[in-house]
Amino acid sequence: MGCVANIFTVEGGFKLGAEPAVRILSEKHKDNRSLGELVETADGSMTIRHPEHLETYHSSAGAETEAFELYVSSSGFLERLTSGMQLAVLDVGLGLSYNAMATIDAWLGCSESGDLNIVSLEWSRDLVSALVAGDAPWTVNWSALRKNIVMRLTESSSQKFFGEFVHPVTEAVCRWTILVGDARETVVGLQSKFNYVWQDPFSPDKNPDMWNALWFSAVKRLVEADAVLMSYSVARRVRDALTEAGWQCERFKTPVKQKKQWLRAQLPN
Ligand SMILES: C[S@@+](CC[C@H](N)C(=O)[O-])C[C@H]1O[C@@H](n2cnc3c(N)ncnc32)[C@H](O)[C@@H]1O
Repeated sequence: MGCVANIFTVEGGFKLGAEPAVRILSEKHKDNRSLGELVETADGSMTIRHPEHLETYHSSAGAETEAFELYVSSSGFLERLTSGMQLAVLDVGLGLSYNAMATIDAWLGCSESGDLNIVSLEWSRDLVSALVAGDAPWTVNWSALRKNIVMRLTESSSQKFFGEFVHPVTEAVCRWTILVGDARETVVGLQSKFNYVWQDPFSPDKNPDMWNALWFSAVKRLVEADAVLMSYSVARRVRDALTEAGWQCERFKTPVKQKKQWLRAQLPN
């Protein structure tokens, strides 16, 4: 198989798109405390605690571990990269971008990768601004390659950041778009058909509107028939909402000790 497992520290050359013409960044992120307190997770990767509802952006199992094991690996995405087919990922709740970066790392590490389209939805402009400025506090241990990737994202239009990267071996192209705003509104304008959905808002208790049948129906309209949706929450209400929206879900055992089960959902045949 041409994919390297868990390569979040991947280094090496890859071709970048054209230099950004303009970089428009918010100044507000410079007060990092406004983004939340920095917290180290079990695998050494850093997350933050939301300053208002005090939930951390990742489980104690580890931001990197969850991004790779739950989303990239357990979804089948890593394996499918070897097919060389064009793939599209809907990244719900960009947050600190661990899931998006793990997706790109896996794509870069696979010698058969085809084109990849990632659309990340995030309503906190401050998070996105901190990320693309390259000085987000949680990126302190990130590889130079990763920082290079996020710093190449440019604000292509209002509320939209975009970056394009060429695969070093296959010359396939990864297009990463971040749409800033309320995902429930943003998805209305999306035309793409996604193969994978990384469902990762805050918990159903703190972020209920992103876990109801209305939301999962909106996502369903955007996916291919064989799409796979992954979620860390196995809550009964989440499974019920997915079922109501026409998804079939299954819980499966995680490889981490801090959490027993994760959730995979697909559309019926
Ligand atoms: C648990 S964090 C995501 C962590 C992230 N996936 C990562 O890899 O680091 C949840 C994110 O969802 C975002 N979010 C929650 N509700 C949203 C909404 N309605 N529209 C857009 N983003 C939303 C939050 O701002 C937060 O950044």
